[in-house]
Amino acid sequence: MAGSQRSQRAARLVFSGSRIPADGFREDVIAGLSLPRKSIPPKYFYDAKGSRLFEAICALREYYPTRAELALTRAHLAGIARFAGRGGVLIEYGSGAGVKSRLLIGALAPSTYVPVDISREALRAAAAALRRRFPRLEILAVHGDFSRPLRVPAAQGRGRRVVYFPGSTIGNLTPAEALAFLRRTRGQVGARGAMLVGVDLKKDARVLHAAYNDAKGVTAAFNLNLLNRINRELGAGFRLHRFAHYAFYNPALGRIEMHLVSRVRQQVRIGRRRFSFEAGETIHTENSYKYSVEDFQKLARSAGFRSEKVWLDAKGVFALHGLVAR
Ligand SMILES: C[S@@+](CC[C@H](N)C(=O)[O-])C[C@H]1O[C@@H](n2cnc3c(N)ncnc32)[C@H](O)[C@@H]1O
Repeated sequence: MAGSQRSQRAARLVFSGSRIPADGFREDVIAGLSLPRKSIPPKYFYDAKGSRLFEAICALREYYPTRAELALTRAHLAGIARFAGRGGVLIEYGSGAGVKSRLLIGALAPSTYVPVDISREALRAAAAALRRRFPRLEILAVHGDFSRPLRVPAAQGRGRRVVYFPGSTIGNLTPAEALAFLRRTRGQVGARGAMLVGVDLKKDARVLHAAYNDAKGVTAAFNLNLLNRINRELGAGFRLHRFAHYAFYNPALGRIEMHLVSRVRQQVRIGRRRFSFEAGETIHTENSYKYSVEDFQKLARSAGFRSEKVWLDAKGVFALHGLVAR
């Protein structure tokens, strides 16, 4: 390819910002708070402040998943690159700050990188930083919601399609949602495609409890920020001091559950609607499912993938699964 053509292609950085219906947030919050057991999908944590708070969580002493996944990615980078192949199209769901992405892009040297995230500010900042770090890389950034079928832009780059889904974000989906997501991804990568999925492993409940109840209260601030966002964007009247962060491991379901618990009996308005809370009643805000290696492999098989590789960190707390299309 001629030099000028190449630099033109490399300079493309596209945002597809119209894929999230503007009223989805209000509808989902009203619907979730109208349920007998109140709940709000975790994807709404990630406004600009929520994304910053998530990055602060990643740096906490108690929050082991980010450190473990980064360490195992660094330790096995050559093997991961051999598995995924170089020069293809790398699509990343829930790309966030793009810290792990940087390692992978360096090793895989994809022709095109497609980060997808619901947090516009985080996506913009990460894409701009990656562009400075990899000036010749074509980046097609998609502001979108991966919990629904989503068309990622037809990447110009040819070669194998590899989907990267780190951070144990798959654990935020129920097993049924995770299966549907993996099936969609299997369709997207095609017969020659592959997937790299970061999955948090089952472990001592005390370690899990500490990771979601940090001493500095950053996870609590992340959880409560959802109410701030509802107040600001939907004109609601949540008083944050009347709610508390509550997170625990549910061993029967193999998941951390995060809730906001009402400290008192109260009513909260959102626009013209009013919602009643008993003292002790909760809004379920997030699940984080933990999988054994075998359980996740079984799930991936049901979605049309074959598990080819599993990399673990030195302490055996986190797994990166290398899946190929069956
Ligand atoms: C647990 S964080 C992981 C971030 C990063 N991948 C990492 O490994 O540290 C989840 C990321 O997924 C994004 N996200 C959550 N739900 C999403 C959805 N439904 N669609 C698109 N992005 C989503 C968040 O904005 C956030 O960046």
